[in-house]
Amino acid sequence: MSDLVVARTRAELDAARAELEGPVAVVMTMGALHRGHASLVRAARERARSVLVTVFLNPLQFGRGEDLARYPRTLDDDLRLCREEGVDAVFAPGPDVVYPDGEPGIRVSAGDLGAVLEGASRPGHFDGVLTVVCKLLQLTRADQAYFGQKDAQQLLLVRRMVRDLDLPVEVVAVPTVREADGLALSSRNTYLTPFDREVALALSRSLRAGAEVAAEGPSAVRRAARDVLRAEPGARVDYLVLVDPVTLEDVPEHHRGEALLAVAAKVGSTRLIDNVPLVIGSA
Ligand code: PAJ
Repeated sequence: MSDLVVARTRAELDAARAELEGPVAVVMTMGALHRGHASLVRAARERARSVLVTVFLNPLQFGRGEDLARYPRTLDDDLRLCREEGVDAVFAPGPDVVYPDGEPGIRVSAGDLGAVLEGASRPGHFDGVLTVVCKLLQLTRADQAYFGQKDAQQLLLVRRMVRDLDLPVEVVAVPTVREADGLALSSRNTYLTPFDREVALALSRSLRAGAEVAAEGPSAVRRAARDVLRAEPGARVDYLVLVDPVTLEDVPEHHRGEALLAVAAKVGSTRLIDNVPLVIGSA
C-alpha cells in the first residue's frame, strides 16, 4: 500500500506536488468515492507516473434547492479507498481554500452546450463545474485529467474548455462503471431506498433496450428506450434523448454512426442520470 499524502491547504498541495514525478494525473471528485471513482484512478495509474485525487464538494455547481447540504461526506473512507488504489496524494481543501475571496466574480462560461440537457434543468451548474475544474487544473498543474463517461455532458464541456482556453492538459475519458444489475454507480445512489433502487433500474434498462436496436435507426432506439421508462411510472423522466455526442443536438432519422442515448429522471427525491454511447446503424 502506498504512502498517501493528504493536503488541505494550497501550501500543502504545492509541497506534495513538488514531490510527484511526472507525468502527473489528476482525478477530480466530490468525495463519497465508489468503484466508479476507483476505475478513474486505475486508468490514471496505467498511463501516469503519479496520481493525485482531489476531493472537493464544490458549492458553486449546486443550485438552490439542490442536495449540497445532504451530499454524503465520507473523507475517512475516501482516503482509505485512495490508499488501497495506490493514489500518491489527495487534495481535500475546504471552500475557503478554493474560494478565499468568497464566490468568484470571474467564472468560466459553459456557453450554449452548457445550457441544454443537464444545464436546462440545473442553470449555472456547468459554469460552476468548469470554474472549479479550471482552478483545480491550475492548482494541481496536472499533465492528464481523467473524467467519467457517466457524466457525458461534463466530459464534453471539459474537453471543449481545454481546447477553447488552450489549457495544457490531456483529458482522458473512462467508461461508466455499473452494478451487476446495470445501475450506474453514483454517490447519489446512497439516497435511494430499496424501493427507489428497483425503480432506478429502469434508467439503465431503457438505455440497454435502446442500444439493442441501434442497427434499426434513431426512431427505433428512442421508441425502445421510451417504452421501458413508460412502464416504470416511479421514474419521473426529465429527458430521454438520442443526440450527436459533439453537438448534443437530436440526431435526425437518417443519422448513422456515433450517438449518445442519455436519460435523466427523478426517483423518489433523487435525480439520477445515465447514458450509453451507441453506433447507429450497426448491431
Ligand atoms: P463526482 O460526481 O464525484 O465524479 C467525479 C468523477 O467520477 C467524474 O469524472 C465522474 O464522471 C466520475 N464518475 C462518477 N461515477 C462514475 C461511474 N459510475 N463510472 C465511471 N466514472 C464515474 O463529477 C464531479 O464529481 C464534479 O462535477 C467534479 C468534476 C469533481 C467537479 O466538481
